[in-house]
Parts: sequence; C-alpha cells; structure tokens
Amino acid sequence: MEMIIAANWKMHKKTGDTAEFCRAILKDQQLFKGVEVLICPPYTSLPLAAEFLNDSSLKLGAQDLHWEQEGAFTGEIAGPMLADLGVEYVIIGHSERRHIIGESNNRIRSKVKAALEAGLKPILCVGETEAEREQGSANSVISEQLLAALEGLAPGDMEELVIAYEPVWAIGTGKAAQPGDADAACSFIREVLQNAAGPERAQKIRIQYGGSVKVDNIGSFVEFASIQGALVGGASMQPDSFSALIQAARKAVQN
Ligand code: PGA
Repeated sequence: MEMIIAANWKMHKKTGDTAEFCRAILKDQQLFKGVEVLICPPYTSLPLAAEFLNDSSLKLGAQDLHWEQEGAFTGEIAGPMLADLGVEYVIIGHSERRHIIGESNNRIRSKVKAALEAGLKPILCVGETEAEREQGSANSVISEQLLAALEGLAPGDMEELVIAYEPVWAIGTGKAAQPGDADAACSFIREVLQNAAGPERAQKIRIQYGGSVKVDNIGSFVEFASIQGALVGGASMQPDSFSALIQAARKAVQN
C-alpha cells in the first residue's frame, strides 16, 4: 500500500508563499517515489496550487468542505467547487474544527458523505484529548468518532477514506505520541474498520499518524505496519523540511 503524507497548512500562506513553496517542492518530486504526497493549502491558495501541481506527482487537498453540494450558505465552500479545481482529497473532522469550531460527529458524517458525493476522498481525523487518554477512554472516543462518521456509508465507499489518527494533545505542541502508543491506536482503528467494512475493504484504507510529526520522528511512526503515512502541520510549512520528512519516511519503510 502506498504511503500518504499530507501537508496541512491550516490558516497559513498567502498566494506568494504558496507559489514559492510549490516551486521549491516540485524540484524534489523525483525523491518522493512510492509516497503519495498531498498539499492542503487554505481555500484562497487552491487555484494557484492546482496550477503548480498539475502535471506533477503531487496531489491537492482541501482542509474542509460544506455538507451540501450547493445552496444559500454564505461564506461556505462546497465539494463540487473543490473537485472543479482539481482537488482530490479533503480533510474532515480535524480536531481544530471539532474543538474550536464545535463540529459534532453528526456534522462530520454529513461532510464525509458530501465529499464522497462530490468525488473527493475524505481524510477523516479522529483522536482523543489528553483528559480522555488519562481517563483511559481513548479507544472508546476513537471508535465513537469513527463509527459515527462511517454510519450509513456503503462498504465500497469506505475504501475511499484515509483515516488520520491525531491525538489532540500532540497537535502543534511538539509533544508527539510515543510511536508504540500510535501503533496501538492505529491497530485499534484498523480493527474497528474491519468490523465496519469487512477485512478485505478495511485492508485498503490507509491510516496516518498526525501530531508533531517532524523529520526526526517520522521514521519511528511509519516503520509500524499499522501506520501508512502522516498528516503534518508545522513541519510541512517549509519546502526543505517537508521534503526531508518525506524522504525520511521513504527511507524508513525501505529499511
Ligand atoms: P502539527 O499539526 O504537525 O503541527 O502537530 C498536525 C495537524 O494538525 O494535522
């Protein structure tokens, strides 16, 4: 299964910064063979990034979408608008949207459906808070988030998903999960997926780890068979460090 490493720029980078990043990262694209590399800029940079990445091996993702395909929703962006730009993936249920914007599991389920309907592949984020981990309820939170998002999906559609396991306390803190704990959580996610989609289909779903991933720790995550890539925030902002991180991941898997 091809590893997938995604850059989540969050609310960073204007068009000039996007152009600069794309120009630099594209020079290294032959070093990324065997890794699916994805850039998820803010909406305002998507058209420009699409132009740069067109004809390259790098893919484009969005950070969110609306749950309807069109309508009177001032300020919102719908899946078909993203697909129209050449966007292939969309992050759904990132913890910053769950915990800062207040998105519920039901809302996230409607967005997963909307993405699939628009032909986009969802990167569904799940993960527990620090308090939930301390209470020993991490697995129940993760399975609740997963099952809520998958409810009502045809098993065939589930294959389109990528799952990002992102413990909330590890995001943007510099305090990544212990690789062994990430392995345990991702193996648990695989079990939940097997029950929901059947073992064969679940096998096709890639699971990423996210939360303070850097060039010097990426290898310790992806060397586990349970983890097929990473969702990267801070370390994806600079082309040099993001390129080094992708190459380190590739090396770790080849070893
Ligand atoms: P981080 O962010 O790599 O800066 O911790 C990860 C994410 O939010 O997806």
